Amino acid sequence: MKILGIETSCDETAAAVVEDGAKILSNVVVSQIDIFAEYGGVIPEVAARSHLEAMMPVVNKALSDAGCTWEDIDAIAVTHAPGLLGSLLIGTLTARTLAILHDKPLYAVHHLKSHVYANWLSGEKPAFPLLALVISGGHTQILYMPAHNQFEIIGTTRDDAVGECFDKVAKILGLPYPGGPSIAKAASEGDAEKCKLPHPKIEGLDFSFSGLKTAVLRAVQKELGLPISHPSYDLKNHLSEKQVADFAASFQKTAVEILCEKLALALEQHPDVQSVVIAGGVSANKALREALPEAYFPAPALSGDNGAMVAAAAYYEIISGVEPTDPYSLNIYPRISIEK
Ligand code: KG4
Ligand code: ZN
Repeated sequence: MKILGIETSCDETAAAVVEDGAKILSNVVVSQIDIFAEYGGVIPEVAARSHLEAMMPVVNKALSDAGCTWEDIDAIAVTHAPGLLGSLLIGTLTARTLAILHDKPLYAVHHLKSHVYANWLSGEKPAFPLLALVISGGHTQILYMPAHNQFEIIGTTRDDAVGECFDKVAKILGLPYPGGPSIAKAASEGDAEKCKLPHPKIEGLDFSFSGLKTAVLRAVQKELGLPISHPSYDLKNHLSEKQVADFAASFQKTAVEILCEKLALALEQHPDVQSVVIAGGVSANKALREALPEAYFPAPALSGDNGAMVAAAAYYEIISGVEPTDPYSLNIYPRISIEK
């Protein structure tokens, strides 16, 4: 079964053709990073407009790279939640129109589910029941999955997502958007022991990352001998390259430790678990990959947003008995939970 997956939930316009939820026939991703690096973050209206321009060329390239015509496509899958409203609209309107035009069944997929299923696109398949640590720019959750397409949220962030924390700390340090990769790069030259940062005092499986961001801010101010009233946007002008590298390394080490601690606690509480999968943009992080050698990680190119994971998630919905959605009435949900 060949599925065309379409993804536009944030700032990547993506489409892919995947066979039987595992074999990637094509995977086209057009990133808007260059546009938003200039602004230091995503501007939703600009993202939506860029999706509109890139969408059909990306879909057509996904089909031609796969050597497919519409005849060969068995179903269309699209991200309908959660994400930026305008961005989700472009992807879903495209998928709805194509489904009607080419008379294909349409599947609406939750973005975090897609991230989890990026782990079924290469290598050995994870065994159930499993724990999924979903770490992206908008979410930080631990999910318990007893079987395909079944998700229970057992831990979630009470404030910022871990990816958001990487992005905010990068801003403080004057590193370019998106923060995750630039923190990782700077950290590779730094001393992670240089600055001791606190772990949040939250019992159980929930996370908190806003305190860590503030702790970095205070540590930088202290290092520079500046008062806490000194504006965060100006700190980068006073930091040396070595100081930036040391703060990046210390922050990354602490963030990785926090994720690993919660995951260890979740495993303790769920002794039936057979495997652990890591999903979402932050799963690209090398230090995290090294800290969790037993866990499943997506291929680095599939950690971030892409269409292949959407197609894979839809495949497992189909074999779990999920019915296609009505292309005339499919809605978008910028904030809906994976459990809904
Ligand atoms: O999954 P994703 O591409 O988009 C969302 O669904 O949010 O995740 C984006 C997030 C950003 O916060 C970005 O800084 C982070 O993933 N990220 C990383 C790395 N690459 C991307 N964080 C840490 N280390 C990385 N190498
Ligand atoms: Zn994502």
